[in-house]
Amino acid sequence: MSTIIELGDVKKHYMLGTTKVEALRGVSFQITKGEFTAIAGPSGSGKSTILNMVGCIDNPTSGRVIIGGDDVSALSDKRLTKYRRSTISFIFQSFNLIPVLNVYENIELPLLLEKGMNEAERKAHVMQLIEEVGLVDRMKNKPSELSGGQRQRVAIARALVTRPLVVLADEPTANLDSVTGAKILELMEDLNRRQGTTFLFSTHDHTIMDKARRVISIHDGMIAGDNVKSVGEAV
Ligand SMILES: Nc1ncnc2c1ncn2[C@@H]1O[C@H](COP(=O)(O)OP(=O)(O)O)[C@@H](O)[C@H]1O
Ligand SMILES: [Mg+2]
Repeated sequence: MSTIIELGDVKKHYMLGTTKVEALRGVSFQITKGEFTAIAGPSGSGKSTILNMVGCIDNPTSGRVIIGGDDVSALSDKRLTKYRRSTISFIFQSFNLIPVLNVYENIELPLLLEKGMNEAERKAHVMQLIEEVGLVDRMKNKPSELSGGQRQRVAIARALVTRPLVVLADEPTANLDSVTGAKILELMEDLNRRQGTTFLFSTHDHTIMDKARRVISIHDGMIAGDNVKSVGEAV
């Protein structure tokens, strides 16, 4: 079992005027390849800050962040951008799709930026993902013509299209009703099982955290619990 994400005593402080906000106060955990893990905690507890550290969007004030064996706190900005593009994908609560592009084009876009596949390979790969997220009959539609759940399915397919090592999802169900949110979690879990992609997502919703195989609870910038469910208990 190989460790894919490691945080070692990560602290993150923000200055708000002259006030120091201690968003993370020494967070350490390891995630193994293929895990499906929730970071759970109330609003303001530090969930987004953790995902931003793992996703190399922001640097820790102190501590280690190691992704796939690489110490990302030691990478230059340019290498970090390249690293982030090839290794880590994001899913956001507000979907962040490109409004002028249709479903197919939104999912294809990261592959055009990466330039690693020829046109036929790209098309086959995008179509396969559209099928996996159940949007074949919607692939010509623009995001504004889709429901919230359908939009998040597009975002999931877009996140997976580059075959990343890690998918990070910051409260992916927060803008969805509970039934749709549960279906989105089931889709992520199904893709995690079938493709082996590691998922780390945050939530403050108990019905959503119950679907994770491992729940790392965070409170006031510190880990308050770390529970791995036995096989068959989750979902
Ligand atoms: N850019 C920032 N500047 C100042 N304070 C911040 C910033 N980002 C987050 N914080 C603070 O850090 C704490 C943790 O925030 P966050 O990680 O967004 O929590 P969560 O995602 O769990 O709601 C909160 O007190 C928040 O106000
Ligand atoms: Mg947040």
